[in-house]
Amino acid sequence: MTKKKKIKKAVLPVAGLGTRFFPATRAQPKEMLPVVDKPVVQYIVEECIQSGIEEIIFVTGRNKRAIEDHFDYLPEFEEALLKNGMFESLKEFDDLRKMISFTYVRQDKQLGNGHALLCAEKAVNGQAFVFCNADDLIYAKEPAIRQMLRAYYKNEIVEEMIGVIEVAKQQVVKCGVIKASYPDKKDREVFEVEAIVEKPKIEKAPSNLANPGRYILTPSIFEALRETEPGIGGEIWISDAFSNLGKNKPIYACRIEGKRYDCGNKLEYLKAVVDFAKMNGEFGRDFRRWLEK
Ligand code: UTP
Repeated sequence: MTKKKKIKKAVLPVAGLGTRFFPATRAQPKEMLPVVDKPVVQYIVEECIQSGIEEIIFVTGRNKRAIEDHFDYLPEFEEALLKNGMFESLKEFDDLRKMISFTYVRQDKQLGNGHALLCAEKAVNGQAFVFCNADDLIYAKEPAIRQMLRAYYKNEIVEEMIGVIEVAKQQVVKCGVIKASYPDKKDREVFEVEAIVEKPKIEKAPSNLANPGRYILTPSIFEALRETEPGIGGEIWISDAFSNLGKNKPIYACRIEGKRYDCGNKLEYLKAVVDFAKMNGEFGRDFRRWLEK
């Protein structure tokens, strides 16, 4: 048996307009909204790095320059941080930049996250890759992508796999949930999926395992995307293309252990800020006390 090539590339779409956060997104990307002291997108990049990813392909667009600048070398900060004794912060960021390379491709019309992925086809270069929504934060002991890659290799999967996370029954109306006869036991981490059902009514939901925007994909997804009709909101969705792939071959889900915050949604974003502030090593205790009062 030939040894399977390790997955080293991740596509992160950041070209969306972020209309739910208007007017905050008039001139700045929603992916740059801070959760305590880091922008949301940095948490996702760190999750990728901690999972062994070596190249991030950002699908970017107009008004998104701040993301490129954020991950660039900024000499003017170096002096100021050193002057303020913030050597650790400087080193942490430098180390991060050394571990990963960034490629940028553009999406000129915001036609959905599936369309954004199509813009990255050449950069993916015919290999299996990871796809992460750049505004979906997952707090987990083991980074979500690492959980998925570990299960992918262990189960010798060669097809597409989606990460799924358990949500409360009342929440399914806001999510894409999977249709599958999945095992109840939490220790079965990978299982076959029939399709993803977007925003079902509670009584019609086929499961409470929701899609937090994490996939392991192969180049077959590009053909599927080209054949996928626009769906909700007239956009081309990866979840629809993923479901379409399942008509002709097995597709899989992997249970992620963790807590998801959809930071494209105002309430969820605020929950992320509060939860991360409560866990902060520097002022978390003071913040918790203040909240209790
Ligand atoms: P969302 O659907 O949450 O982003 O996409 P959006 O369209 O910007 O949100 P609203 O509804 O207008 O508030 C999830 C991810 O896909 C990217 C977004 O930037 C986000 O990281 N995306 C979405 C694109 O790159 N291109 C698109 O056309 C749509």
